[in-house]
Amino acid sequence: MHYEKLDSFPKDFLWGASSAAYQVEGAAAEDGKGPSIWDVYAHEGNTINGTTGDVAVDHYHHLDEDLDLMKRMGLKAYRFSVAWSRVIPDGDGQVNDAGVDFYRRLIEGLLARGIQPVPTLYHWDLPESLQKRFGGWESRATVAAFEKYCGVMFRAFGDRVKYWITINEQNVFTAMGYRWQTHPPKINDVATMFRANHNVNLANARAINLFHSLDACREGLIGPSFGYGPVYPRDCDPKNVLASLNADDFNNSWWLDVYTRGEYPYFTYKALQRMGVAPVVSASDNELLRSAHPDFLGVNYYHGGTVQENRLDRPLDDAVNATGSQSAAELTAVAGGGAKAFSAIDPYLMQPKEDQAQSPEIPMFQNVENPFVSKTDWGWEVDATGFRIALRQLFERYRLPLFVTENGLGALDTISATDGKIHDGYRIDYLRDHLVTMQEAITDGVDVVGYCAWSFTDLLSWLNGYRKRYGFVYVDQNDDETGTLARTPKDSFFWYRDVIASNGASLDQGERR
Ligand code: BG6
Repeated sequence: MHYEKLDSFPKDFLWGASSAAYQVEGAAAEDGKGPSIWDVYAHEGNTINGTTGDVAVDHYHHLDEDLDLMKRMGLKAYRFSVAWSRVIPDGDGQVNDAGVDFYRRLIEGLLARGIQPVPTLYHWDLPESLQKRFGGWESRATVAAFEKYCGVMFRAFGDRVKYWITINEQNVFTAMGYRWQTHPPKINDVATMFRANHNVNLANARAINLFHSLDACREGLIGPSFGYGPVYPRDCDPKNVLASLNADDFNNSWWLDVYTRGEYPYFTYKALQRMGVAPVVSASDNELLRSAHPDFLGVNYYHGGTVQENRLDRPLDDAVNATGSQSAAELTAVAGGGAKAFSAIDPYLMQPKEDQAQSPEIPMFQNVENPFVSKTDWGWEVDATGFRIALRQLFERYRLPLFVTENGLGALDTISATDGKIHDGYRIDYLRDHLVTMQEAITDGVDVVGYCAWSFTDLLSWLNGYRKRYGFVYVDQNDDETGTLARTPKDSFFWYRDVIASNGASLDQGERR
């Protein structure tokens, strides 16, 4: 559809920005916080230039300053995550009042400034003690611990917080942690990945059911945030179209069908059974998964992917769509982990291990380059139309309100030597293009309740340190962790402020590229 005029954004549209605890808070061992698996993983030298979340951008100690900046920008919503090990240091034991108090100050500070708090309960920083004692997500003890921790948060803040996110990008952290060894627990075992992933599904379902059972949360809404990318076939060769169905099932429906329908997609489950790696789903698991209904879907969109049929004669390295430009490979080199430009979307596309390369069943598709889209400095595709496609597909399939909980551009921002400002016009272009395609999707009829750009301030990128910046607010921090932590709004800050103030009307000004 092409429109002469787009519909306006809904009146109460939640214009927002996002962050995650490990990436911004710092204060990693303060006020009773226990270590998370990321604290340990980073200290074991697994991250670029040895970066850790010990200080990050020190949001913990800059809380009021950051809140005031949010107000100055006019944000309507702020999505942040809760560090589980700040609230319950060992994951399932005593509650740490000082930890709960930090989130109380954050939530009340937001509300006092007219900003809706949007907490994410799990953004990858599992309490280390659960990993050590039970093997983390490999065990159902962690499922029970998650439910307990969620209960603490729901009871403390359920009366004040409307939108809750259960799990962030389950597709990404399970693949990175149990397949690609680029996140803790740094395992490469597909069967374990699916087992751990199944437990995360159970945890998500139990948290949603608990939420819906509590009086304190009656006015609230809850759902997971998924890292979604549409899948394109390389061309109209029916074999490639079939490969794109496989990829879509495997990369998207594998999670989304469970969240929304309580069951794994049929063909993919059968394929994994044949490979001996499908998770065991008991009758009571089935019952639990089917009983939990999210109120909305959180969507993190960066890009999609393009696939062709799995051709066994093609060299493996060539099959991994993760190299990006030369500079990207250098920038993203992970200590001890090669130089692949891992992105939010690529890593969970299942590629064969060398010993499996001859299996006709693994993988069911192969990634290829898309010649129609450009790329960021880190080799991530830039595809604003894909955002409209993503929103359309998700709404068509699942008919749930959508809340965009991440979307943004990672770039090498610099402070201008002439005026000391950060002229990130490229970020403005990126965001404008995506906001316009989101408005097109809204005009198509998609129910989008809000949009939280990634990210509010600059922050620590899990695998890329501080060079890859996403924020509206520049933070003087670097990979040596010796920055002054001073905050400076970038040009994009003022541009987004005007978008919010006009409820999107200012997007009409300025050409879409
Ligand atoms: C998403 C995550 O996958 O992508 C964020 O939810 C992350 O936590 C963001 O920071 C960007 O990824 P990266 O690797 O560029 O920092």
